[in-house]
Amino acid sequence: MAAPATSVVVLDRGNNTTCTVNLHGATVVSWRVNNQEQLFVSKQAIFDGKRAIRGGIPIVFPQFGAWSTGPQHGFARICRWELKKPPERLPTGDVEAMFQLLDNEFTRSMWNYPFSLTYRLILREKELHFNISVYNPGAETLSFTFLLHTYFKVPDVRRCQITGMRGCTYIDKTREGAMYQEHRDVVTINEWTDRIYQNTPLEHIITNVVSGRKMRMQKYNLVDTVVWNPWVEKAKEIPDFGEEEFPNLVCVEAGHVSSPVILPPGTVFEASQILQVM
Ligand code: BG6
Repeated sequence: MAAPATSVVVLDRGNNTTCTVNLHGATVVSWRVNNQEQLFVSKQAIFDGKRAIRGGIPIVFPQFGAWSTGPQHGFARICRWELKKPPERLPTGDVEAMFQLLDNEFTRSMWNYPFSLTYRLILREKELHFNISVYNPGAETLSFTFLLHTYFKVPDVRRCQITGMRGCTYIDKTREGAMYQEHRDVVTINEWTDRIYQNTPLEHIITNVVSGRKMRMQKYNLVDTVVWNPWVEKAKEIPDFGEEEFPNLVCVEAGHVSSPVILPPGTVFEASQILQVM
């Protein structure tokens, strides 16, 4: 029998705290803390095992943005990943699972290099930990960009504040890639927003996420932070997204995108992210 187009893996910590990963893209499609969903997934998301899932946490690799040899944001989010280690309870009570993507005919057709991308998730009481490693088993140096495209669920994006960008330069993709410097203590969103903040600090706090709480994002080796909301006009151009949904998400995306990761043969790139409901 043919494998199903999509299938999911659930990490269950008890107390209605779960994390659901769709093997299509190893996309985290749900993270519930005490039964409260933390991630936005569009009502119009398509789960056909082909397109990227509109919401949750798609993985962007090996190309952030438009790509001459493959689809926007690369192939990792549209490949079926292997479950390398099924969910297992750790002595702490936390639950761990591991996923892997290796090069194959499909990836080679766009990017003709060998690689091993592993993704380890640990679900804690109020935290979700992501450990990423990219290994280069080949003879040539790899050059790629990487990003975790996190869609946070929020009651109203206009009331969210994002800390940590003051003093950072950013590329404004809504203004043809012009560069600016952020002068505000907190970033707020009141229009179509698509910015790559560079050399951001290790931590951002996002206020007024679900239940009026705060979300802490900590990141390691992910030097940039993308902030995105399509607002109403751009939302209309996205087929798998409802134009009325834009107030209910804010994408704050930890990545290594404004310059590529250069990975010599036999070496590993490691990065991590911790999300914590405060
Ligand atoms: C963001 C980009 O990370 O992703 C935006 O900065 C892009 O430019 C957005 O529009 C969504 O991309 P996609 O391919 O999932 O529609």
